[in-house]
Amino acid sequence: MRIDKFFSTLGIFSRKECAEKIKRGLICVNGQTVKKGDFKIDEEKDEVYLSGERIFYKKYVYILVNKPSGVVSATEDGRDKTVVDLLPDNFKKLNLFPCGRLDKDTVGLVILTNDGISAHNALSPKKHVTKKYFFTTADRYSNEDITAIENGITLLDGYTTKPCKIERIDEYNGYIFLTEGKYHEIKRLFGARKNKIVFLERVAFSSITLGDLPRGEWRFLTAEEEKIFTGN
Ligand code: URA
Repeated sequence: MRIDKFFSTLGIFSRKECAEKIKRGLICVNGQTVKKGDFKIDEEKDEVYLSGERIFYKKYVYILVNKPSGVVSATEDGRDKTVVDLLPDNFKKLNLFPCGRLDKDTVGLVILTNDGISAHNALSPKKHVTKKYFFTTADRYSNEDITAIENGITLLDGYTTKPCKIERIDEYNGYIFLTEGKYHEIKRLFGARKNKIVFLERVAFSSITLGDLPRGEWRFLTAEEEKIFTGN
């Protein structure tokens, strides 16, 4: 593989940016400074360093974004900005897609990857991956509402939701933990209780959390988080 392809596949930088790093003598392979972007490497065996830091090859990329309101969970959209548009241009060629969807007005954690199998597994209801959301309701919600939602509610389309957990913060705010992801599920659960969700934020996907990542920003998953996501 060409050294510039190596860096672009990892989403580290574009081929053009790679040329600039090479010019500045920042890229070394097996102890030798690379002089040209078409320099060929064995990505599995060769030791690649960028500014003295070892860079390991990975087939897939895993990214966490903090989705703002108004951005859609899609790869392309004729009208609205997508979660993929939140990333720098060098990610465009990597065919990243969001693992699961948040509504346009829901904010928070979305994982983007090009690893279709892991994404499929992570979303499979059989895997029971817990997604944690912070919510705010328009009207007060009661203990009866919590019990009804936690036990599962038969929605207007006849679907009965899986049991879930609610952690109350106060009469309007709380956390809800879901192991499935039906269309508008949280909004429909509270709708069935004659209430309305006015703010919704996904804060965790399994034990992967948003942390202090600002809204609209992105970061790579850590090695530990990748293991959680892929199950490896
Ligand atoms: N439930 C909803 O209603 N909306 C989301 O975006 C996610 C879960």
